[in-house]
Amino acid sequence: MRILEAFRAAYGDEPTGVWHAPGRVNLIGEHTDYNDGLVLPFAVPWGVTAAVSPRADGVVRLTSLQAPGKEQTVEDLDQAHGWARYPAGVVWALREAGHRVGGADIMIDGDVPQGAGLSSSAALEVAVAVALDDLYGLALPRIELAKIAQRAENAFVGMPCGIMDQAVSALGEEGRALFLDCRTLGSRTVPLDLAANGLRLLIVNTGVYHELADGQYAKRRQDCENAAKRLGVPALRDVTDLAGALARLSGDERRRTQHVVTENHRVEALVGLLRAGAVREIGALLNASHLSLRDQFEVSCPELDTAVEAAVRGGARGARMTGGGFGGSAIALVPEERQAAVRDEVLRAYQARGWAAPTFLEAVPSPGARRLR
Ligand code: GLA
Repeated sequence: MRILEAFRAAYGDEPTGVWHAPGRVNLIGEHTDYNDGLVLPFAVPWGVTAAVSPRADGVVRLTSLQAPGKEQTVEDLDQAHGWARYPAGVVWALREAGHRVGGADIMIDGDVPQGAGLSSSAALEVAVAVALDDLYGLALPRIELAKIAQRAENAFVGMPCGIMDQAVSALGEEGRALFLDCRTLGSRTVPLDLAANGLRLLIVNTGVYHELADGQYAKRRQDCENAAKRLGVPALRDVTDLAGALARLSGDERRRTQHVVTENHRVEALVGLLRAGAVREIGALLNASHLSLRDQFEVSCPELDTAVEAAVRGGARGARMTGGGFGGSAIALVPEERQAAVRDEVLRAYQARGWAAPTFLEAVPSPGARRLR
């Protein structure tokens, strides 16, 4: 393992252990997590590996093979900057929650494709969280570690994300998607056997990330909170009479509400189809989710729309943007025999617009965070 060598070279000793946490794709349930809603993501084969040893002096040393020359030694966690704020934030959040966590020597290696919107940051946080949990004998439940990781990102890094990415990185299972209720944090895994149904889930990485994304994410959250307040409910999850709610709202708040409420229904419908063994029938729900994200939630972009439309033209049973939006990746549910046709159609569409070619990956539901050695 190259991370062992790197650890030895940086810190002059063997790490006490090595942990891995995956990135994710979201099958359906987009922008529902921070509305106390439902999501159905699964863990992907790529993630972040952390080799870690505890330190008695409270100091945290951080090195990443993806950030050469940017290693940091911090006594005060707030000194951490750039990439190191994610792992330092996890140490901070654990201590904040009252856990006795000392220092650590941390070496990071990751293979989540950058900018693909596959949650490399959640993978980094969760890898460090499970490592420190083991090393300091905390024995926290996985969902608690996910909450710690989310708190690190919200309060230390400053990104107001929901719980989805960290939860699935901590709780994912091979061959299964994670059906998570973001209010109760109760979850179940659901079999997602694509190959047995002659299907593949293709990731189309647009390679673009539109700058305004971060501010827009916070703005969408705010729209949703404002709408819930106007409707007198704790969260948009609680809207049961959609038509009645829409009649009381206008503009952005109305559109955001329409998306969140219908998206929660789509998650439930999709879970129902998977339980019935009807994975071939989920395409229409993926398409509907995309249209809603494009037109009502307004988080898509031309590159994502083009990928989705071309994939469907090429024979995908359904396709949608996945993750926060404004770039990153789309997913397409593709019959095995249509794989080449779908790729060709997407490549052609990008070429026709003069855009750089997107890249393709296959998403296979993979295990969640675990100790490797
Ligand atoms: C990002 C956030 C998640 C979630 C998605 C949208 O990935 O990190 O918490 O809100 O966007 O579904």
